[in-house]
Amino acid sequence: MRIGFAGTGYINKIHACAAQHCGAELTAVLNHKAEPMKAFADQFGIPRQYETLEALLKDGDLDALVIGTPNYLHAPQTIAALNAGVHVMVEKPMSMNAREAEQMCEAAQKSGSLLMVAHCWRFDPEVLWLKEQSSGLGKIIRTKGVGAHLHEGPGGWFTQKELAGGGALVDMGIHALDTARFLLGDPKPVAVYAKLGTYYKDFEVDDTGVIIVEWDNDVTSYFESGWWQPHVDGPEAATQLYGTQGFGQLFPTRLELPNIQEQKIDVIESGFPFPRESHSPQSLYDTQLEYFVKCIEKQETPHPGGLEGLMNMKVIDAAYESSRIGKVVEIS
Ligand SMILES: NC(=O)c1ccc[n+]([C@@H]2O[C@H](COP(=O)([O-])OP(=O)(O)OC[C@H]3O[C@@H](n4cnc5c(N)ncnc54)[C@H](O)[C@@H]3O)[C@@H](O)[C@H]2O)c1
Repeated sequence: MRIGFAGTGYINKIHACAAQHCGAELTAVLNHKAEPMKAFADQFGIPRQYETLEALLKDGDLDALVIGTPNYLHAPQTIAALNAGVHVMVEKPMSMNAREAEQMCEAAQKSGSLLMVAHCWRFDPEVLWLKEQSSGLGKIIRTKGVGAHLHEGPGGWFTQKELAGGGALVDMGIHALDTARFLLGDPKPVAVYAKLGTYYKDFEVDDTGVIIVEWDNDVTSYFESGWWQPHVDGPEAATQLYGTQGFGQLFPTRLELPNIQEQKIDVIESGFPFPRESHSPQSLYDTQLEYFVKCIEKQETPHPGGLEGLMNMKVIDAAYESSRIGKVVEIS
């Protein structure tokens, strides 16, 4: 499996380690800046370096490309790679908006190349534990989730609208959104109400958000997104499920089940330590990349793929629109 990397920043260093751990061949790297690209190539022993995507796709000798660039590049880089017969794993958010996400899905369908969106929490053992256990909660009525940074936030391109598309919602809130959707069995969004704003720093994207989503399985989800928050209810992707027969939550991960006979609450501990040594460990990304490689080997559509990413982008578009007009936005 010959894998290339578009972007040589924070997340692609993690993906390059993951590629090494799963025994892939790290073949080529793309960055418009030669210096960080050389450092990345040296660190991971990558033989080929390219300053343009066209050159990489023509000459890079790739089976797959991992895209970890600023958000505005995700769609054009993904579409070009898919059309060149290269499988793609693209970082979240998959695009700047749902229209671009649709174009990426179309490119995957037409080219036959595989598209995976790196919604990493779907590979987390605690998320998987809760998903398995959630059948014991009865019908889930509502969920609550958080994707927010406490007393910190990114700078640079992350805070520029034309490069990032949005702020804390697309950077952090999307983790809570995708985790809830995964736990609920990937329902479709039908309506969104959101209030997004910028209160903590002087930049053009949102640093604070509350978002309510109604799904087509009659569940309502509430999310908080943020950077520089004075308080957060839990770490990235922390999610609560409220069911007719009990309550389940991530980080700390456990169930609370009413015991009517004994008139008490039975707490079912998952056994995972909390807080974790690292909330986003390398192993999470190793599992994710291993899955991408397996999908390529078996020629199977990855999940999370284009469709899962697109649903998230539909919610995000509707959230920005709802916040702009101050009303609920329905999604057709
Ligand atoms: N899933 C996660 O846990 C997670 C964590 C961090 C970031 N991300 C996502 O990964 C993506 C990248 O984030 P990051 O933190 O690594 O950012 P970063 O700024 O550290 O890295 C971006 C890289 O893209 C390169 N780049 C910029 N313009 C380019 C161009 N025209 N051609 C080629 N390369 C170019 C930069 O030089 C840099 O190497 C974002 O979409 C972000 O949302 C996901």
